Amino acid sequence: METALTRLVGVRHPIVQTGMGWVAGPRLVSASAEAGALGILASATMTLDRLRDAVREVKSRTQEPFGVNLRADAGDAGDRVRIIVDEGVRVASFALAPSPELIAELKEAGVVVIPSVGARRHAEKVAAWGADAVIVQGGEGGGHTGEVATTVLLPQVVDAVGIPVVAAGGFHDGRGLVAALAYGAAGVAMGTRFLLTSDSTVPDAVKARYLAATVKDVTVTRAVDGLPHRMLRTELVDALEHAGRTKALLQAARRAAGFRRLSGLTWRRMVQDGLAMKHGKDLTWSQVLLAANTPMLLKSAMVDGRTDLGVMASGQVAGVIDDLPSCAELVERIMKEAAEVRERLNPSPSNPSP
Ligand SMILES: Cc1cc2nc3c(=O)[nH]c(=O)nc-3n(C[C@H](O)[C@H](O)[C@H](O)COP(=O)(O)O)c2cc1C
Repeated sequence: METALTRLVGVRHPIVQTGMGWVAGPRLVSASAEAGALGILASATMTLDRLRDAVREVKSRTQEPFGVNLRADAGDAGDRVRIIVDEGVRVASFALAPSPELIAELKEAGVVVIPSVGARRHAEKVAAWGADAVIVQGGEGGGHTGEVATTVLLPQVVDAVGIPVVAAGGFHDGRGLVAALAYGAAGVAMGTRFLLTSDSTVPDAVKARYLAATVKDVTVTRAVDGLPHRMLRTELVDALEHAGRTKALLQAARRAAGFRRLSGLTWRRMVQDGLAMKHGKDLTWSQVLLAANTPMLLKSAMVDGRTDLGVMASGQVAGVIDDLPSCAELVERIMKEAAEVRERLNPSPSNPSP
């Protein structure tokens, strides 16, 4: 199926596997790319050396195009952009709006720039700055998320910008893809659905928690990092929501120190990143500290398999997913169902609708 997205990035199907910290590593990304989707590596939780190695590993596993997701407000975003350019990565994906300078640098080097946004005005801003496309995430999506549902936000953004819009938040099947196309999107981007594949390296015990979740087990909380964050409701989330301010901050400081060691960031860099976050989002210092805490909580679940200690970021869609196909099976299934739905909506004379 050809759309503005497939033409822009050179993939076979209008499907994106999004960048998810600790989840979207070389194995998942190369499997998505081989399946004909756009796989995106999550780099915010990687050191610069690890990012370069991960990019090379993907390149050794597939010839297909892929992307790298980074935080535009990270102090070393410039270094990450240079790795993307040097290694010939096709797509740069951003968790927050990148600066016009970063967009220009990437575009000059021939890299396609696709920021993720959660509001119309952010989409308008990055489009005006030269982004090639946007991923727009509705409130039902996993991870940091907004309040407006995909069904309202998506057409609003499609009407507001002249660049291809990729729909995210709540997608998992072929019906969803056709619905997104009907709204005017150029494809769908999925996080939770790709996390729940046999190619994802997330430990089995954690995947089992997602599969067992109902729609009501997925919640939005600010208790983890001060920002609305969609995840599975667990005992940890309940405990964080009920912990006193001081206790929560002390725990956050300890985990932030752990993340500093793991990510190779200096304290200076962490403070610089914190300042950038604070400036961009009007956060208090305690919220900034809590935000630095998030990567460690995600890692406890996604890498160490600690369902008791970790944060399991998740879209509401986890409540309707109950299997673990390979990326190839998933993409094939979605495209087959999309073709059937389109046929049903617009039957050929030899196959009239019921
Ligand atoms: C476990 C997890 C980790 C995530 N980490 C990131 C990230 O590092 N950067 C980012 O831009 N988005 C991140 N997201 C958001 C996803 O990229 C995507 O926009 C979202 O999952 C789409 O909604 P869906 O889960 O309903 O498909 C994460 C989502 C999940 C579920």
